[in-house]
Amino acid sequence: MIDLDRVSKSYEKGQPAIDKISLHVDKGEFVFVVGESGSGKSTLIKLLLKELEPSEGVITVNGHVLNTMRRKSIPKYRREVGVVFQDFRLLGDRNVYENVAFAQHVIEEPGRRIKKRVPETLELVDLAGKYKSLPRQLSGGEQQRVAVARAIVNQPKILLADEPTGNLDPKNSYEIMKLLEDINARGTTVLVVTHNKELVDMFQKRVITMRRGRIARDVEEGGYHEA
Ligand SMILES: Nc1ncnc2c1ncn2[C@@H]1O[C@H](COP(=O)(O)OP(=O)(O)OP(=O)(O)O)[C@@H](O)[C@H]1O
Ligand SMILES: [Mg+2]
Repeated sequence: MIDLDRVSKSYEKGQPAIDKISLHVDKGEFVFVVGESGSGKSTLIKLLLKELEPSEGVITVNGHVLNTMRRKSIPKYRREVGVVFQDFRLLGDRNVYENVAFAQHVIEEPGRRIKKRVPETLELVDLAGKYKSLPRQLSGGEQQRVAVARAIVNQPKILLADEPTGNLDPKNSYEIMKLLEDINARGTTVLVVTHNKELVDMFQKRVITMRRGRIARDVEEGGYHEA
């Protein structure tokens, strides 16, 4: 599902942000990516979204070689990849329903499909009672659940999350992680960047530890471990 072959990314001279990483993630896996600040985790996510181009190496996602992908194919590719950020990034002037429906409008889904799919998705994230709320009327945990709903409403093959619990208290953090696990159990490949040691230890998934742009550790069903 995700394959990196000796991928590097340098922003400027000096230490590359990503330094000859080779990595394989199978379809259906759930992977945590951990590591100190500046170790290259967000850069990795941006490379996978084709927001950045690697300086070296080949990145393949869901059968697409990103290096050679044409510009006009990028929007279609991004439909296959859902993404969630620390700061939610919701449309502040649209309600919950509209925020999620927006993602379906962008890919020009027919109206009847949207009317079915948006409620199903809001049900899944347990926000069925909040259709008409604006983001500012929701708690942080609820806002992040809207963001997760928006990320999965188009049924992506892969869900990427960059510190999705960074702004949440422990209870909401747990619930978001549980939700991501749930989505994974339904078949989506999930990659979560996190600093949350407790949750990594609790969920016992594959853990990739990055250090200075490299993979320092990659273990199945591991804990967080300070390297
Ligand atoms: N746009 C940029 N221009 C120049 N350097 C950058 C840019 N973005 C990131 N870097 C550098 O690349 C390295 C990796 O950054 P990255 O954001 O990937 O780290 P991170 O692991 O996500 O850190 P954090 O845990 O703090 O979010 C850092 O040294 C950072 O300063
Ligand atoms: Mg980061």
